[in-house]
Amino acid sequence: MKTSTEPLNLLNYVNGEWTGKYSATFSIINPATKEIIGTMPDGTKEDVLGAIEGAQAAFEIWRRFTAEDRSNYLEKFYQRIIERKEEIARIITLENGKPLKEARGEVLYAASFVKWYAEEGKRVYGKTIPSKSNGQRIQVLKQPLGVVAAITPWNFPAAMITRKMAPALAAGCTFIVKPPKETPLTAAKLMECADEAGLPSGVVNMVVTPDEVFSETIQTSEEVRKLTFTGSTEVGRLLMKQSADLIKNISLELGGQAPLIVLDDADIEKAIEGTMASKFRNAGQTCICANRLYVQSGIYDAFVSKLKVKIEELQVGNGLEDNVDIGPLINQAGYDKVVRHVEDALKRGAKAEVGGKGYQNDVQDAPFYPPTLLLEAKEDMLCMKEETFGPVVPIQKIESDEEAIRLANDSPFGLAAYYFTESMARGTKFAEALDYGIIGWNHGAPSTAQAPFGGMKQSGLGREGGSEGIEAFLETKYLSIGID
Ligand code: SIN
Repeated sequence: MKTSTEPLNLLNYVNGEWTGKYSATFSIINPATKEIIGTMPDGTKEDVLGAIEGAQAAFEIWRRFTAEDRSNYLEKFYQRIIERKEEIARIITLENGKPLKEARGEVLYAASFVKWYAEEGKRVYGKTIPSKSNGQRIQVLKQPLGVVAAITPWNFPAAMITRKMAPALAAGCTFIVKPPKETPLTAAKLMECADEAGLPSGVVNMVVTPDEVFSETIQTSEEVRKLTFTGSTEVGRLLMKQSADLIKNISLELGGQAPLIVLDDADIEKAIEGTMASKFRNAGQTCICANRLYVQSGIYDAFVSKLKVKIEELQVGNGLEDNVDIGPLINQAGYDKVVRHVEDALKRGAKAEVGGKGYQNDVQDAPFYPPTLLLEAKEDMLCMKEETFGPVVPIQKIESDEEAIRLANDSPFGLAAYYFTESMARGTKFAEALDYGIIGWNHGAPSTAQAPFGGMKQSGLGREGGSEGIEAFLETKYLSIGID
C-alpha cells in the first residue's frame, strides 16, 4: 500500500520561530513502504545555542506566571492535541510504523500527560516544619529547576515528549527537546500545537540535530539545569558521565527486559489478555513489554495452546491498512537484532511454534517480522538475557515460585515485571520480591499519566508520571526564618 501523501517538509522550532528553512535537510522514511514521507533541517550547534538562549530568557518570565496561568496554557495545548488527533496519529503511523489504532491511542496517551499536569502543577505544595526553637520557623519551598533538555525516542514519538514536557512546564521550567531522526515530524506537530496554544516564545523549543551535537552543547551549558532522557542503557550511561562535569540533574528511562510469569493458579483468560497486551504493543518495541515468559508446569499446556491461537490471529502489515495489529519494525538494525535473537534461540534448542522467519511483506526488504512463539527457551539464550524489541515470545517452563523469582530477578535491568496469580498471598509476595520499578499483577498495560513510571538497577534513574514526575523538575529550598 502506497502512502499517497504529499511529503511533509517541517522545520525546527527555536524561541518561537520556525527555523532551518535554508539548511541542509534529511529525509524521514516510512518503514512499511520505504517511501520518503518528509524532510527536516539538520539542526546545528547554533540552533541548540539559540534554543538555550530563548529558553533561559523565557524561564525568567514563565517561572513568575502563577501555577493557574501555566495550567491554562497547558489546557489549551491539550485541546489542540485532541483537535488534531487524527492528523498526528497518521503521522505517527507513517514515521514509526505502528498501526493507526495504536497511534490514535498514543495521541490520547500523550495528551493525558498534558491534562494531568495542567492540574498537578497547581498542587506543588511546600511545607512548614515545627522547629526545635521558638525563635526559628522552617519552611520548605519548591521551585522550578530552570531550562530542561530532553532527548526522546522513536517508539512513542508523541507520548515520550509530553511525559517530560508537561510536568516540566507545569513546574515552571522551560523546555528544549531533541526528537530522534526516525520520528521528528510528530514532534514538530506537537510544537505546532504548543504554538497555537499561545505558549510564550522560548518556553518550548525543538531542534533535530545529531545526538553528539545536542549532548555536547547542552552538557557544557550552565543554563541547562536538567537533562531527561529515554533510550538505551548504553547511551544513558554516557549521558550520565557527561553530566557529571556540571553536576547536571539527570533523569534516565532506559532499557528493560521484562519477565512475565504465569503461575498455575492464574486466571488463564486474564493471563492471555495481559500477555498479548504487554508483548505486542508497537510490535514489541516498548521498554516495558514482556520480553521473556516463565510459565508454571501445571498451566503450561493450556496457556501455550491458547496463546498460540491468539498469536496466529495477529495481522501483520502497513499500519494504515484496516485490521493490522503488527506494523514493521523501525529499521533494518532493529530487524537484524530480532533475527539474531531468534536464530540464537533456535540454535540453542528452542522450537518455533509460530513464526520464526522475517520478511513477510511484498515491499522488498521492509523490516516486517512476524509474531513468533518460541518454546523450550532457556536462560542462556539471548532473548532471555537481552531486550529483543520485537514481536517474539520465548517461553521457559518453571516449577516453583522460588524458581520464577530467581529467574525474573537474574537481570541487570529492573524496569517492568508481570505475573498472573489469583492468590492474594502469592501475589503480595511476588510484588515484594521482584526488583522492578513497575509491576503488573494480573495486568499487562500499567502505563498511565497518574502513576510513576521508571526502573531500578540499569533501567534508569527517577520516575515520570504521577506526582513523582513533577518532583523531577523541582528544586527543594529550605528557608530558615529567625523571628527573635
Ligand atoms: C517506553 O517504551 O519507554 C514507554 C512505554 C510506555 O509509556 O508505556
